[in-house]
Parts: sequence; structure tokens; C-alpha cells
Amino acid sequence: MNAAMLEVRDLSLAYGDVQVLFGVSLRVDEGEIVTLLGSNGAGKTTTLRAISGLRPPRGGEVLFSGQSLLAVPASKRAEMGIALVPEGRELWPLLTVRENLELGAYTRSARARSAANLEKVFRLFPRLRERHAQMAGSLSGGEQQMCAIGRALMSEPRLLMLDEPSLGLAPILVDQVFDIVRTLHQQGITILLVEQNLQKALEVARRGYVIETGSVKLSGTSADLLADPAIRSAYLGL
Ligand SMILES: Nc1ncnc2c1ncn2[C@@H]1O[C@H](COP(=O)(O)OP(=O)(O)O)[C@@H](O)[C@H]1O
Ligand SMILES: [Mg+2]
Repeated sequence: MNAAMLEVRDLSLAYGDVQVLFGVSLRVDEGEIVTLLGSNGAGKTTTLRAISGLRPPRGGEVLFSGQSLLAVPASKRAEMGIALVPEGRELWPLLTVRENLELGAYTRSARARSAANLEKVFRLFPRLRERHAQMAGSLSGGEQQMCAIGRALMSEPRLLMLDEPSLGLAPILVDQVFDIVRTLHQQGITILLVEQNLQKALEVARRGYVIETGSVKLSGTSADLLADPAIRSAYLGL
């Protein structure tokens, strides 16, 4: 068995008085693609925020390569190799594509290799090279998603977390996004993929977790989850 890269144990989190995570546990091993699935409002984004250090949990533990992250600030977590492609891309619309990408290289080690990494991103996304001087806000939805992924890659992540990367994209672009996920995985990046598109996510991932109202209700291999009658009726409409 591979070593756990990420381990989330019994994570609980509240926004003010409103608790939204109730003991979420999951793990991602080195070299895996794991998907976190669930309906709108289930707590997927909140889980990723807690892992990246953007929201302090109320309880539980987050371990990265065996080390507790609870006292580690978000910027340091990025330096350790954790990157998040946020829901809705969150690009700087009035900055150019290139500027957006360069802002992704904010860790010290990544800054030193910024030029080489920019070239890698442009090789992966020729479209972004063509549009490097254009404002990010003028890109199509698919191109913006590429730019958001490219920006995350500029920090040289070991663990890339993608929050609903296919949301709002036309079907052909959805396929492209999942192809990109496969390519990044082949390049050695471990991936935690949040999706509402269960079918597609389970095709690309090895294992999955289904979260409902802030706790993990089901988990298993992608094949097991795809065959699960409860999943088929609740999420796939079958
Ligand atoms: N910043 C916030 N302040 C208060 N409540 C929030 C905030 N962000 C999310 N929530 C609530 O937390 C719950 C989980 O949200 P979220 O993690 O975004 O779910 P998902 O990503 O699965 O759609 C929802 O009920 C949502 O309304
Ligand atoms: Mg979300």
C-alpha cells in the first residue's frame, strides 16, 4: 500500500454558529486520484478550505505526509506542496493571463523557477500562451479554468485539489478538463477532485467519498460506488 499523502480525520467546522462539517474523514495516497462527491451545500468546498488552511476547523486533524497541518498557515501549506484550484476559478479578471499565472508562483521555491514553470504551463495549455497578454476576464469559461489550473501548477504542487473544475462548462470542455486531470496525474501529481459530475469523476478517480450534510456517507473504489444502488438512484438518476 502507498503512503498516505493527505489524511483528514474527524474534521468538524462551523461558520459562526452554524456547523457544516460533522466529522469528515478521508485519505489520499501518494499517486492517487481521489474524488470527493456530493450535492450542492454538502460541505465539499468547506473541506478543501480546511485542508488548504483558509478556514480553521473546530475539531479533527489534517495530516500531510504524516505531519499535522493544524498550526501551519495557508501560505506554508502551499510551500509544502498543497494547491487549490478554487470553485469558480477566482482569477483576477483585469490582470493578464500571464500575470495571473505568475501570481501562482508565490512560494519562495516556486518563484525561483517561475520562468521554467510558466513554459511548462504554456506547453500544457497552448491556448494560454496564445492569450497570455489578454485580460483573464476576457477568456472563455474553459480557458479560465485552464488559467486557474495553470496558476495552481505554478506553485509546483504535490497535491492538487480541484473544486468543481467542470462546473458550467459545455460538454466538450468538460471532457477536456477531465483529460487535463489525467495528464497531470500522469505527470506525478496526486489529485483530490471535488465534483458534482459523479459519472465523470468516478471514471477518472480510483476511489471516492460521498459527502452529505457534512459527513461522509459512503466511500469505496470507483467501481463499487458506480455500482451502488443508493448512488445510482440519488446521484445518477438511474
Ligand atoms: N462563508 C460561509 N459562511 C456561512 N456559511 C457558509 C459559507 N460557505 C459555505 N457555507 C454553508 O456551508 C455549507 C457547506 O457549503 P460548501 O462547503 O460550500 O458545500 P459544497 O461545496 O458541497 O456545495 C452550506 O450549507 C453553505 O451554505
Ligand atoms: Mg462547493
